[in-house]
Amino acid sequence: MNQDYIKADAWSIIEEEFDPGRVKSSESLFSIGNGAMGQRANFEERFSGPSFQGSYIGGVFYPDKTKVGWWKNGYPEYFAKVLNAPNWIGINVFVNNEALDLHTCKEVKNFRRELNMKEGFLSRSFEAVLPNGVEIQVKSLRFLSIVNDELGAIKYEVTPLNSDAVIQFEPYLDGSITNTDANWEERFWKTLEVTTDKDKGFIVSKTLKTEFHVGTYMKSEIFQNGDRIELSPEINTGDDTVSFTYTIKANKGESAGIIKYAGYVTDMNHKRADLVQAATMVLKKAEEQGFDNLRKAQKEAWASIWEMADITIAGDVKAQQGIRFNIFQLNQTYLGKDERLNIGPKGFTGEKYGGSTYWDTEAYCIPFYMATKDQKVARKLLSYRYNHLEKAKENAEKLGFTNGAALYPMVTMNGEESHNEWEITFEEIHRNGAMVFAIYNYVRFTGDFSYIPEKGLEVMIAIARFWHQRANYSKHKDKYVILGVTGPNEYENNVNNNWYTNYIAKWCIEYCLEMLDKVKDSYEEDYLRVMGLTSVSDDELAQWKKVADNMYFPYSEEHGVYLQQDGFLDKEIIPVSELGKTQRPINQKWSWDRILRSCYIKQADVLQGFYFFADHFSKEDLKKHFDYYEPLTVHESSLSPCVHSIQAALLGRMEQAYEFYVRTSRLDLDDYNKEVEEGCHITSMAGTWMSIVEGFGGMRVEDDKLSFKPQIPEQWDAYSFKINFRDRIIKVHVSEEQTRFSLEGQESLEILVNGKTLKITPDSTVTA
Ligand code: BGC
Repeated sequence: MNQDYIKADAWSIIEEEFDPGRVKSSESLFSIGNGAMGQRANFEERFSGPSFQGSYIGGVFYPDKTKVGWWKNGYPEYFAKVLNAPNWIGINVFVNNEALDLHTCKEVKNFRRELNMKEGFLSRSFEAVLPNGVEIQVKSLRFLSIVNDELGAIKYEVTPLNSDAVIQFEPYLDGSITNTDANWEERFWKTLEVTTDKDKGFIVSKTLKTEFHVGTYMKSEIFQNGDRIELSPEINTGDDTVSFTYTIKANKGESAGIIKYAGYVTDMNHKRADLVQAATMVLKKAEEQGFDNLRKAQKEAWASIWEMADITIAGDVKAQQGIRFNIFQLNQTYLGKDERLNIGPKGFTGEKYGGSTYWDTEAYCIPFYMATKDQKVARKLLSYRYNHLEKAKENAEKLGFTNGAALYPMVTMNGEESHNEWEITFEEIHRNGAMVFAIYNYVRFTGDFSYIPEKGLEVMIAIARFWHQRANYSKHKDKYVILGVTGPNEYENNVNNNWYTNYIAKWCIEYCLEMLDKVKDSYEEDYLRVMGLTSVSDDELAQWKKVADNMYFPYSEEHGVYLQQDGFLDKEIIPVSELGKTQRPINQKWSWDRILRSCYIKQADVLQGFYFFADHFSKEDLKKHFDYYEPLTVHESSLSPCVHSIQAALLGRMEQAYEFYVRTSRLDLDDYNKEVEEGCHITSMAGTWMSIVEGFGGMRVEDDKLSFKPQIPEQWDAYSFKINFRDRIIKVHVSEEQTRFSLEGQESLEILVNGKTLKITPDSTVTA
């Protein structure tokens, strides 16, 4: 049974009733972020029950020394950890000297928490009876500004309900923060300075080893029954903390309130010596604007994001809530403003995956950002990898590759590999293919070929060199083989000839050869520069080609399908449907050894290849492979259901496509994989978007044109989405009877709908 306490609502995530057992799940689900920083939905006031504290800053990480049982040559020295950063949301609340703590209250009533996705804020209200018998009502609202991404704001109000009361607010900053996943239980931060300036508090800290300098700051305003009052606080500073205590007398039924402005400034954007000054400036501006205007600006900024990115679904509120939650979280994680940042699989909602960059960005996220934002955003994501090319070459060299071959890291913060499980670091080399696929996908969609001569070609050459060296000639097979890999399906390690890996390796080489010719013909200056840098010879190109032309692909004549890897048919093949419910998820119920020997597939693998290279295979081929692999797939990676949804839709199996859609879009809300406490699955949320736009909408680029094959799940009355295709905005509205296309912009556009050409002109609607 999946969790189902989140109330269905088109624009908000809502929780009613307080249940201490759900606090950690809700802390993940109600997380807020602004692309530069983000935090779990921890309570502002003290909470002594089970909770997972987390506040994170984009790009700020710690290289936690690798911990393994047995060292293997080639292991990275460290695992990059996103850092749980100093806490600035804290406001201790005392009522007649008794601390407000929902875990110790006699009673909690009318609890309601809402993540308002339309306007970008988190709010909470409840009534509580404290151990001392005072009953209070609490209302809080907080947001991280996406207009000024260094700023957060909180409004917190307490009203005594059954007597007058003395309310104390103790807003504080706390730099004594740890990560729950620290390898050696070390602290990652060192506090350098705790200072105050009148009613402002500051902590300047630095991360150990990486030496990121961060200024955490706060300032509060106090209100009595809604009116601003001036109060002198009692100031306390400790080694890592600073707090201000304000004491307010509140009559029964009258509120005591506090507004806290707080956040981070870092040396990624300011000089180290100026952090306190920079924070002071942010505070000055925030105060000048005031809470209500800041909220208004937040609402407008979110409105403009939604204007382009929203997907509407009529007739199915849970599906509507699901897709908006996914779109909202993606935008909270990455807004495309900073080329140094990327999209961690858990975004700013937890520590798992270290906040680092995975192949998820190239394989799943690029299409979403490409189609819902300016195309420069996707180009920034590609450039992120270009900027890491030298590190990828060093990484390959460390593993014994030569001649400028590059192996991009499976997990990274700064271009260095920072994951240390051998089967992932050394073997999950398919990620290199996604780097090239993303370039191809970008050029295909945006038409911006300039990326290839300017940056992409160098990346492709280094990756082609890797594949050429990684494959070896098998005399026995008279083919090139790729041995000892882990494919996208991480439930098989050290296998030979994973079909997906071999296929993408061959394709990378072929695409690179094709692009070399194209750049040579039309971009002579860039061509000469790249040749100067890489010294690729004709002889080398001939060797690559030989590998690509003679790549081996395991195939079963009996089943008429490509095999996931050489040994797949030796496995005992029993469909997932015959596995008892008590056995699942197998990654929590079975030993690793048992998983590895089983036929169960964690995530789309062969079918991932069929998704990337859909135009290389017939529908009949897809059908055979889908029918073979889908029954064996357990979807224990969040990245899986979206691909299966797209494939099912392509096969016209809308019932199944819909089921996978619900699973991908509500994966976290309904906690399908029983792990939402650790954080949300951000990168797969882009897959959810794909399952509507590419799955149900059937959007592809064909013959250099945008093409649609719209279908609609039976459960929906209609759905709509917008696409930025080459700087033209197309709105698609699909209902059972018809599809309407309209266009914003100056020039008309020809698209394909079910294979037929359709011309759309600006500011008019065409029906198909
Ligand atoms: C998946 C990988 C993915 C990673 C981060 C793993 O569970 O198997 O493909 O890159 O999660 O999302």
